Order: sequence, then C-alpha cells, then structure tokens
Amino acid sequence: MSLKVSLSMFMTLFGLICIINETNGLDNGLGRTPPMGWNSWNRFNCTIDENLIKQTADALVDYGLRDIGYKYLNIDDCWMGERDEQGYIHASNITFPGGIKALADYTHSKGLLFGIYSDAGYRTCAGRIGSLGFEDVDAITYASWGIDYLKYDNCYNESIPERQRYEIMRDMLNGINCISTKRPIFYSICEWGVSQPFLWANEVGNSWRTTGDIHLGWESILDILQQQHKITQYAGPGGWNDPDMLQVGNGNLTIDEQKSHFSLWAALKAPLLLGFDIRYPPTDVLGIVNNTEIIAINQDPLGKSVNIAQSTKRMDVWTGELSDGYVALLFNKAETSITINLNFTAHLNVQGELSIRDLWEHEDKGAYNDSYSREVPKHGIVVLKLTGGTKIKEYPDFIDQYSDAALSEFVIKYGVFVLLLIVIVFQYYIRYFCK
Ligand SMILES: *[C@@H]1O[C@H](CO)[C@@H](O)[C@H](O)[C@H]1NC(C)=O
Ligand SMILES: *[C@@H]1O[C@H](CO)[C@@H](O)[C@H](O)[C@H]1NC(C)=O
Ligand SMILES: *[C@@H]1O[C@H](CO)[C@@H](O)[C@H](O)[C@H]1NC(C)=O
Ligand SMILES: *[C@@H]1O[C@H](CO)[C@@H](O)[C@H](O)[C@H]1NC(C)=O
Ligand SMILES: *[C@@H]1O[C@H](CO)[C@@H](O)[C@H](O)[C@H]1NC(C)=O
Ligand SMILES: *[C@@H]1O[C@H](CO)[C@@H](O)[C@H](O)[C@H]1NC(C)=O
Ligand SMILES: *[C@@H]1O[C@H](CO)[C@@H](O)[C@H](O)[C@H]1NC(C)=O
Repeated sequence: MSLKVSLSMFMTLFGLICIINETNGLDNGLGRTPPMGWNSWNRFNCTIDENLIKQTADALVDYGLRDIGYKYLNIDDCWMGERDEQGYIHASNITFPGGIKALADYTHSKGLLFGIYSDAGYRTCAGRIGSLGFEDVDAITYASWGIDYLKYDNCYNESIPERQRYEIMRDMLNGINCISTKRPIFYSICEWGVSQPFLWANEVGNSWRTTGDIHLGWESILDILQQQHKITQYAGPGGWNDPDMLQVGNGNLTIDEQKSHFSLWAALKAPLLLGFDIRYPPTDVLGIVNNTEIIAINQDPLGKSVNIAQSTKRMDVWTGELSDGYVALLFNKAETSITINLNFTAHLNVQGELSIRDLWEHEDKGAYNDSYSREVPKHGIVVLKLTGGTKIKEYPDFIDQYSDAALSEFVIKYGVFVLLLIVIVFQYYIRYFCK
C-alpha cells in the first residue's frame, strides 16, 4: 500500500510538471499521421497466445505489410493474469508464459512496434483485471516492458465520468515519459463515443473511438459510417477520430464492400488497424490492404479528414483536401450498379481543369472541366485523386438529399392519411364557426 501511495504521488508530481511545461495536455509527439498496424480482437477475440502473436509479427514482415506502414502489433483483451501483492500486473502464465516483455522484445527485433490493451475500469470487457486505481503501477509496468501503444477500454467504469478516468492514465503515461524513457506510448481512448470525446480527447489521447464496436457484416460498416460526418473536423495530426478497427478479410463482405470499407476509413483518417488472420492472407484481401495509393491518402501530412459533400439513400460523395490536391470518393450504397457524378464546384469547391487519377485502377484518367462521372458497382467505391484547379473561397454546404428523400417517402406513404386528418379537422372547424 505504502509503495502504491508513494508511486502515485511521484507519478502525479512528474506528470504535473510535464503538463505545466506544455501548452497541451497531451504532447507525446505521436500520431502525426493515423497509426497503422494489426490488432487481435476482430478475428481472435479472447483466444490469443504468444505463438499467435509471434507468427503475426513474422507475417507482417513476410507479406511486406510492415514496410508499407503497418508497424503496430497490438494485442487486445485477455492477455492478463493476476496482480501480485505489490499490485503489479502479470500476463497469463498459461497463454503468455514467456511474459509480455519477451514478446515486445521479439516484436521490436522485427522492426515493429508493440501495443497492449487495458481498461479504465476495475475489470476489462472480457472480465480480466482492469487498471482503475492502478494507473500508476500499470504505466510503469508498460514502460518497463517497452510498450508503444495502449488501447484503453471503458467497461466496469463505476459510472465515473470518462474524461476524469482517461486523464489519470494520460498523466501517468506523461509522467513516465517525462522521467525517463525515450519510448512514448500512443494513447488510444476507447470510450465508445459515449461522452462526446471529440470535444475533449484531443488533449488526452492520440485517438478516440467515435462509436460502439464494429461487428461483422455490411450493416455495421454503414451504421458506423453514417455517424462520422458531423465530427470529421475534429481529426488532425496528433489526435484522430477512431471509427473502430478494420473488418477487411473477416466475415462475409464482398471484395467491393471491403474496398469501400478500407477506402472510407483511410480517407476519414481513421487508424488503419487490420483485424484478419494475416498468417494466412487471402490474395485478394492482401491486394486491398496493400494499396499504397489509398494508404498515402490516410498518411497525407495535412491530416484532414474527408467530409460528406452529398448524400442520398443510394450514394455518398465524400471529398477532402490533401497536401497536394484533393480526394473524392464515389460510394454506391445501392443494390445495383449506378453512375455517380462528381461536380467540381458543388462537391470539391474547385473551379477549372482538374487532372484525375483512379487509386484502385492505378491509372491517370486525364483532365476534366466541371465534372466527372463513373459507374460504380453495388456497395463499391471509386477513389479519385485530383490535382489542379482553383479553390473557391466559401466551402459549399453539404447537400443533404437523404432527408429530402426521407420526407418525400413519408409523404408518399402517409400523405393520404394526413390529408384525411386535415379535412376532418377543417370540417369541425367550419362547424364550430358556423355556430
Ligand atoms: C468474444 O468472446 C466472448 C467471451 O470471451 C463472447 O461472449 C463474445 O460473444 C465473443 N464475441 C465475438 C464477437 O465473437
Ligand atoms: C499461474 O497464475 C495463477 C493465477 O493467475 C497462479 O495461481 C499460479 O500459481 C501461477 N502458476 C505459475 C506456475 O506461476
Ligand atoms: C460506463 O459503462 C456503461 C456500460 O457498461 C456505459 O453505458 C456508460 O456510458 C459508461 N460511462 C459512465 C460514466 O457511466
Ligand atoms: C453476413 O454476416 C452478418 C453478421 O454475421 C449477418 O448479419 C448477415 O446476414 C450476413 N449476410 C449475408 C449476405 O450472408
Ligand atoms: C499486394 O498484394 C498483391 C496480392 O498478393 C501482390 O500481388 C502485390 O505484389 C502486393 N503489393 C505490394 C506493394 O506489396
Ligand atoms: C455543378 O453544380 C453547380 C452548382 O450546384 C451547378 O450549377 C452545375 O450545373 C453542376 N454541374 C454539373 C455538370 O452537374
Ligand atoms: C477546360 O477549359 C479550359 C478553358 O475554357 C480549356 O482551355 C481547356 O482545354 C478545357 N479542358 C478540357 C479537358 O476540356
């Protein structure tokens, strides 16, 4: 106990000194572009062990993924065993008998970075031991193991406000970083978007989840996507919106659906954390996640997310600025292939001639004035990089045809009843006045 108290005071003191010296609460220099790597959860859930993680490290290197940016190897929930009498956490001696430090060392020897998971509650979501009340010892432990990334979940939270709990761990990580190590820890806040983290988390972490968990299947991807457009302006170098990890290669998504998912996440500047079994990568899946032209959109140094320029029930046009041009995504949500038109003034806010490159076909499409149209397959996407033109001053308003469509659908379905109601009310009104 006395050890814990003194540790805590020590860490808080150093954390405070660090914070006073900084203009911002979190300034660990990390996440200038969104993090890229792999995480165990989407494919393996709780069934992880050290052999799987080592083989995954090998695969990241062997399939060339490390060299195109996928540097973080992150284990999710279920690595923990028990705390000892001093409060220090240990890995499960069944699934991780070699301990986490050895695994982190192995990962580093492969030229990768190593990430770990814990929870701002007294248990993790899978019921293992959490970090609430042990932030100091855990931060010290992670640093001593050589951890590079912490995903910090929100289960068993005792109803203590999110910001308060997530700031304690930030201060401990800052404290550790300030005292000694040359190894700052990327801090990934995973509070599921429950307390509007985009309003405060930029000073606390390097990324923050914007929604609940992504699930298998197309519906989940659409559901998460439609919650992103109102908050895209909060993403930027050092702090990113996190619409959760990729499901490319998992479940029953078609190749077009996987391309759409990957492209949209990349252009939203989401962390690109793969979640499939990369020890045995299907060739077509590898061919999606190794598209370096899409990755370059995600890693563009300007760090600005795309936003929705037009949305209907059947399609979205997402556009945004790059350090050297513009990006436009023509996304087909319909059940058949459709033609989608990109209007340079209305969607991109640009006048004049633009040179267009297709980032999936890896082909220059030439120069165009005013607009450019493409046929897009069912649930598919066309991703274009555009250069040239002149920016118009005002950014155009988002064209929300979706709510118009919803309104007209309502009128078609219930219009007759509404009319009838009006007639009845009107009749009573006339009778009342005639008396
Ligand atoms: C993950 O495993 C837990 C048990 O640890 C189980 O309750 C849950 O349904 C699993 N989730 C998925 C998505 O497989
Ligand atoms: C493994 O951990 C459990 C508790 O998590 C403990 O009871 C047991 O003694 C440990 N076994 C070894 C060999 O360390
Ligand atoms: C705590 O977790 C619950 C779900 O278990 C969630 O509904 C709630 O928003 C979280 N935060 C707080 C402050 O209660
Ligand atoms: C795909 O998987 C999801 C989740 O498991 C399921 O809800 C959906 O019905 C499946 N779709 C098809 C076309 O099999
Ligand atoms: C991407 O994967 C495909 C399919 O395995 C392969 O043919 C291609 O060489 C890979 N490209 C890169 C840049 O690794
Ligand atoms: C592009 O949008 C502008 C402004 O909404 C409109 O005046 C113009 O007709 C559109 N051009 C095309 C080719 O659709
Ligand atoms: C675009 O418009 C400019 C000015 O009218 C013209 O010089 C140019 O040739 C046009 N480009 C294309 C590809 O039509």
